[in-house]
Amino acid sequence: MRNEILEYFRKADGKFVSGEQISQDLGVSRTAIWKQINVLKSRGYIFESSTRKGYRLIYAPNLLTPLEIESVLRTDTFGRRVVYLETTASTNEEAKRIAREGAEEGTIVVAEEQTSGHGRLTRNFYSPFAKGIWFSLILRPRFLPMEAAKCTLLAGVGVCRAIRRMGLPECGIKWPNDILCHGKKMVGMITEMSASMEKIDYIIIGIGINTGAKKEEFPEAFRESATSFANEGVEVSRKELLAAVLSELEKEYRIAQTEGFDKVLEDWKALSVTIGQDVRVIFNEDSFNGRAVDIDKDGCLLVDTGDKIERVIAGDVSIRPAGQPVNLGR
Ligand code: BTN
Repeated sequence: MRNEILEYFRKADGKFVSGEQISQDLGVSRTAIWKQINVLKSRGYIFESSTRKGYRLIYAPNLLTPLEIESVLRTDTFGRRVVYLETTASTNEEAKRIAREGAEEGTIVVAEEQTSGHGRLTRNFYSPFAKGIWFSLILRPRFLPMEAAKCTLLAGVGVCRAIRRMGLPECGIKWPNDILCHGKKMVGMITEMSASMEKIDYIIIGIGINTGAKKEEFPEAFRESATSFANEGVEVSRKELLAAVLSELEKEYRIAQTEGFDKVLEDWKALSVTIGQDVRVIFNEDSFNGRAVDIDKDGCLLVDTGDKIERVIAGDVSIRPAGQPVNLGR
């Protein structure tokens, strides 16, 4: 009911709406409407009230509360259950906790701010209050555990498509699944899994999308390598962006479950900014240069070093500026 009430105010576009009218239309008492408006007020919505004219919505918070998300969501299951936290250490940790307790597929954990957001290779992930979308999605796929890495590719495709749709058509995927815009990182993703030998219990896909932070706000370590919608000069509604991401992820997940991964791989390649580039691969103590030529059916990056094709399963891949020799050796 709360959403329906909000819908009235959205349609009224800042004009007064009579409580009597809403109660009649929704078939509930005026007290029930008043109670719901009080709940909205406690969540940051500001109303002006007049005994004659009713209520007028003056301000709706720019937060990713379940109500705000639900008002724009177009999915069947992804994001239909939202665990919302203003602050948390890491949404991935919270998602793992509730997944262990049985949270259903499609549940998301969203936070306005993370105090210990983490990325691949145990890196920190900068996640300031309301300046991005920091969330984790719980999946319980029917794939074999050995196929789980493919969820990483699937997530890259979904997120990249959503970001393109929301005003940045030039963004692309850097292997395995950072989203870059003009060579700078706008999105980081991490996939974590709990499984036995033959069955996946759950997969958590943690996604961080920079929306509001300007260049000078990023910590110095990322200032040159990171970007955001704001930095690229595009104003985006965080809830619309989250809804778009969830729609694209759900679509791609369905394709993977019904048609298999070939289509996902094809989609990934079409969005890739890594394939065809000269790259440097770093894994543990080892590093080498070469040209990224393809990904294989398991999602591993194939790099031509000049002598042979290296199959990269994990590690850090950086795209080298044009003009550097391809094979600098190990
Ligand atoms: C990376 O760049 O290596 C991956 C970064 C993943 C960050 C997201 S933000 C939401 C979720 N919670 C985390 O702690 N990490 C992921």
